[in-house]
Amino acid sequence: MATRTQNRSSNQRSNGAKSGGNSGQASRGDSAFSWGKNGGGALLGAALAGAAIGLAANFGRKFLTHSLSGASGDWDEVLATEHDMALAIFDKMLATDETQTFKRSMLLMKLTHALDKHAHEEEMVVYPALREANEAHDADALEGEHGYVKTFIYELNQMGTDAPNWLDKVREFRALVQKHAHMEEEEVFPRFKERMSEEQNARITSLVNRDGFWQA
Ligand SMILES: [Fe+2]
Ligand SMILES: [Fe+2]
Repeated sequence: MATRTQNRSSNQRSNGAKSGGNSGQASRGDSAFSWGKNGGGALLGAALAGAAIGLAANFGRKFLTHSLSGASGDWDEVLATEHDMALAIFDKMLATDETQTFKRSMLLMKLTHALDKHAHEEEMVVYPALREANEAHDADALEGEHGYVKTFIYELNQMGTDAPNWLDKVREFRALVQKHAHMEEEEVFPRFKERMSEEQNARITSLVNRDGFWQA
């Protein structure tokens, strides 16, 4: 997103400079679009270089964010690490009191991002692969539960961080995520992995990592 914004502002800068530079040259038959003659090419080059730096920075950030997440190994290990990380954020939320509204908001944002990235990896890779392996029943049940994860986030955003029942809501939410993670880690994923070839396992791992990278 940062890259898109940067591209946009770079284009605006170069367009502005281009029309300004052209104003006195129209009588000599220069088209407003003759970029080569008025230094527009250099400006375009600078804009593209700026965009490239922005893109590189964004890649660096994603790489760092993704690496720092500590998630490595096979797809199921990556996902199990992410479950643990989400549960750890829940624990920090449960250790707050109603005066720590800023901390609660920050933790809720962090949790929302972590669960969003995680759900995306499962919904875009693992659950479709499960359906392909005739495990649609499990995939649909798990994906349905992701809907309730989003509902909890919606409710927490609605109620405000100083609400008297905030901790109760977070506790209830944590229990749902824990149960869901348990079903994935102890039942569905091991059963699925057992039937996979090494190539399939490597393929799913690479797709999960790729999806996680773009979500980071
Ligand atoms: Fe899930
Ligand atoms: Fe999961």
